[in-house]
Amino acid sequence: MKLSIAISSLLALNVAALPSKLLRRGINNAAVQLIGSLEGFSSDFYYINGHKTIGYGHDCVAKQDCDTIDAPLTKTEGAALLKEDLAGYESCVCSLSNAKYLNANQYGALVSFAYNSGCGGVENWWHGAMDQKNFEGICEALPTTNTLGGQLSNRRRQEGEFCAQPTNSTSGC
Ligand SMILES: *[C@@H]1O[C@H](CO)[C@@H](O)[C@H](O)[C@H]1NC(C)=O
Repeated sequence: MKLSIAISSLLALNVAALPSKLLRRGINNAAVQLIGSLEGFSSDFYYINGHKTIGYGHDCVAKQDCDTIDAPLTKTEGAALLKEDLAGYESCVCSLSNAKYLNANQYGALVSFAYNSGCGGVENWWHGAMDQKNFEGICEALPTTNTLGGQLSNRRRQEGEFCAQPTNSTSGC
């Protein structure tokens, strides 16, 4: 009895930290947390390139849901929006050649790259390596790829480290 209480409270904590409304292709919680920490969190609306944004980089103009979001946003609500937003980028990464052979961490790193560089970006930068299944090469190249002249170096370095962490889990593509 004690054990089952302990387990159910652990599960409750997990759900609170990372709510999941939609079925995901396979991005792991560690990758969602990485992307959340790289994006940074804002409980109120702010503007990026004139686009109204909130939470973990949720562009509500592009998503056409600005009117449905009540600021201030909680981190839990922000994480829910982030996971919804990542679903589209997960599709982009999964549509790359050989994506089903990526492990979960390589996949998460590429979803982070796609979230930040766009679906066209992930295709442009990595289609050659994906064609060759050179996944380790992607992890090695991430820290110096599309850094906007160094502005994104810290983000890319963390993506590269995440990418290179061994795991037996697969992308789920
Ligand atoms: C992957 O699986 C092998 C064989 O079961 C195991 O030895 C290894 O520790 C696992 N690696 C990771 C990162 O879990």
